[in-house]
Amino acid sequence: MKDFAGRTAFITGGANGIGLGLARALLAEGAKVAIADIRQEAIDAALETLDNQQAVGIRMDVSSRAEFADAADEAEDRLGPVSLLFNNAGINLFQTIDESTYDDWDWVLGVNLHGVINGVQIFVPRMKERGKGGHVVNTASMASFLAGPVPGIYNTAKFAVRGLSESLRYSLAPHGIGVSALCPGLVKTHIYASDDVRPEALNARGKPVDASFNAQLAKVHEAGMEPDEVAAKTLQSIRDNKFYIFTHPEFRDELREVFDEIIADYPPGDAPIERLAFERGRRENYRKARAAARGK
Ligand SMILES: NC(=O)c1ccc[n+]([C@@H]2O[C@H](COP(=O)([O-])OP(=O)(O)OC[C@H]3O[C@@H](n4cnc5c(N)ncnc54)[C@H](O)[C@@H]3O)[C@@H](O)[C@H]2O)c1
Repeated sequence: MKDFAGRTAFITGGANGIGLGLARALLAEGAKVAIADIRQEAIDAALETLDNQQAVGIRMDVSSRAEFADAADEAEDRLGPVSLLFNNAGINLFQTIDESTYDDWDWVLGVNLHGVINGVQIFVPRMKERGKGGHVVNTASMASFLAGPVPGIYNTAKFAVRGLSESLRYSLAPHGIGVSALCPGLVKTHIYASDDVRPEALNARGKPVDASFNAQLAKVHEAGMEPDEVAAKTLQSIRDNKFYIFTHPEFRDELREVFDEIIADYPPGDAPIERLAFERGRRENYRKARAAARGK
């Protein structure tokens, strides 16, 4: 996709941070934008700063299938068929897996993984049926490659979003629909304040909220990349039909280091011939799928 003008974009978590940056960039390109977010006051503030008739706000929780479906219908009624989907809403929880409760898992996976699944389940069939192409951007993170002890559940969700996105990319390429995984590093946003939107129904916390740690996180995020820079790089990557949208150059060497360690763990030896025959075919198909999705 080279041109965004006249298209309708649906951006989850669009009322702040990266999502709001994307909304600004898309409006500047002449697209129409639905800002879907759980915080009504943030939606109102975003619409005020955007000050653009081509933007609408819809309050919804991405983890709810019913709310997502209603929001999709409302966006399309008001702005026309969505062909640009940004599954971007996300929350963070800085704690290890072994100190997490089921509520912690359900909240973080509900928003960061099921939110993406819901967007795909609801919009992709519509995009395929209309046959007008489109693009899906799922916001993963560098945390979809680099896992530390914290934030364990966040890592789990982001690794899954990366896998989901890659698989989806190959199945949608024949339909002229691109798929990308946005993998930012530190961005200047309010992600550290995620606990504000944690639902009452999932409030059995493995660890109490640590206000002083959150204040430190707020400072760290102040040093992050501006959301507008992330958004500009994202739109360019859609134009270039890139799968990985790497916005932060500082991770290149670290990725190489981690991949080298993975390969170093690989044992020597050969596989039996029958297995190799199957794997050769699979490997060739995978190579072809990657090339086809790149348009090569
Ligand atoms: N900020 C970073 O350093 C960073 C780095 C890598 C990846 N990311 C990812 O970027 C995405 C956007 O986050 P951000 O950094 O802009 O944070 P942000 O908190 O500024 O924005 C996220 C938005 O999502 C909304 N949201 C939260 N839960 C929701 C729900 N259940 N339903 C609908 N909306 C919901 C929030 O209200 C908020 O407006 C997330 O997926 C995050 O994991 C952020």
